[in-house]
Amino acid sequence: MDVKSSVLERYSEGAKSQQADLCCPVDYNTELLKILPKEILERDYGCGDPSRYVRKGDTVLDLGSGGGKICYIAAQLVGDSGHVIGLDMNHDMLSLAQKYKAEMADKIGSDRVSFYYGHIQDLALDLNAADTYLKKHPIKNKGDLEKFDAWQLKQKKTQPLIADNSIDLIVSNCVLNLVDDTQKLQLINEIFRVLKPGGRVAISDIISDEFVPDEMKADPELWSGCISGVFQEKEFIQKFIDAGFYSVAYDKWDDTPWKTINDIEFRSVTLTAIKAEQTVAMDEGHTVMYKGPYTSVTDDKGYVFDRGDRTAVSNIHFNALRNSALATDFVFIAPQKNACCATAWSDTLFTVRKIKDSKIGSGNDSGGASSSCCG
Ligand SMILES: C[S@@+](CC[C@H](N)C(=O)[O-])C[C@H]1O[C@@H](n2cnc3c(N)ncnc32)[C@H](O)[C@@H]1O
Repeated sequence: MDVKSSVLERYSEGAKSQQADLCCPVDYNTELLKILPKEILERDYGCGDPSRYVRKGDTVLDLGSGGGKICYIAAQLVGDSGHVIGLDMNHDMLSLAQKYKAEMADKIGSDRVSFYYGHIQDLALDLNAADTYLKKHPIKNKGDLEKFDAWQLKQKKTQPLIADNSIDLIVSNCVLNLVDDTQKLQLINEIFRVLKPGGRVAISDIISDEFVPDEMKADPELWSGCISGVFQEKEFIQKFIDAGFYSVAYDKWDDTPWKTINDIEFRSVTLTAIKAEQTVAMDEGHTVMYKGPYTSVTDDKGYVFDRGDRTAVSNIHFNALRNSALATDFVFIAPQKNACCATAWSDTLFTVRKIKDSKIGSGNDSGGASSSCCG
């Protein structure tokens, strides 16, 4: 059996009965599990808890939502104003998740979860629409195939399953590793496309310490078991940086490997990242100070923050740092109320800001001192 078919088959089985081999122990917030149906809890094939990153009001997309556990946890956290979309390519998993939709809506207080049929590496393509097209226009020759390709391009552009810049938080639990290596770059670019500027990523997945050799990758059992398709630990982070993400970090890292095979350690991690605001960066008087404990820290763009320096940053940089895993290591000083000097940001402005231009005020996060940031 090829690895792709093995993923479909194994998770169809996993939707119907609990597969012990696919389970990896996870500490969820037990309060949020209380209202979840037993059947969904039993079909848990995650390796982490990305729902910890959900905020009230978020539109959340769960890539490879399986039985819907993370979606129903997230639905309790987004509140009435938020929405959760679970996306999966497996009908049996989608049926399991959908089975409890009405019951969960009653328990949570409103119907705020949707489940979509799609591939996580091609978030624009609505597979239900593709099935409908193919029923009407079965492919019998190369001409039909070309027409189907043209239909897909048009469909994705005019009626994308997940639109550009529409999601606040992308979560995923043990799924990215199942995507074919040749489609992993497209997958990360799709995550970037659908996130709103300023949107966040929280992906729990298995990674390896060493690169996995081809003979292990060709093994359908190892691939569908979330082992041989994993990213190597440095590669995973680098792919997100290369795609344009900001503040990419391992926010959770299991010291103990989940499995060790052929001396390669496979462990669960949670990667977090941000899609920076896409507007023009401005100097509006935002200031940050690195608190330590190191002499300095350098970000992916090469900016060096020296410990204890009140450092001028652009509006975009300020927000990205504040949403990043490093946020607790910094002091954030918003522009003073009467700041008057918004100008386009340039790297030469990345200097120490005068104390009198970055007064913190009395417990006022938004500045509050009287002098202007113009100095
Ligand atoms: C290991 S299970 C994890 C399920 C769920 N996230 C959980 O925490 O229980 C992997 C899920 O991802 C789905 N999946 C795998 N590859 C996919 C792809 N390329 N596109 C969409 N779903 C995919 C499978 O159908 C399965 O439901």
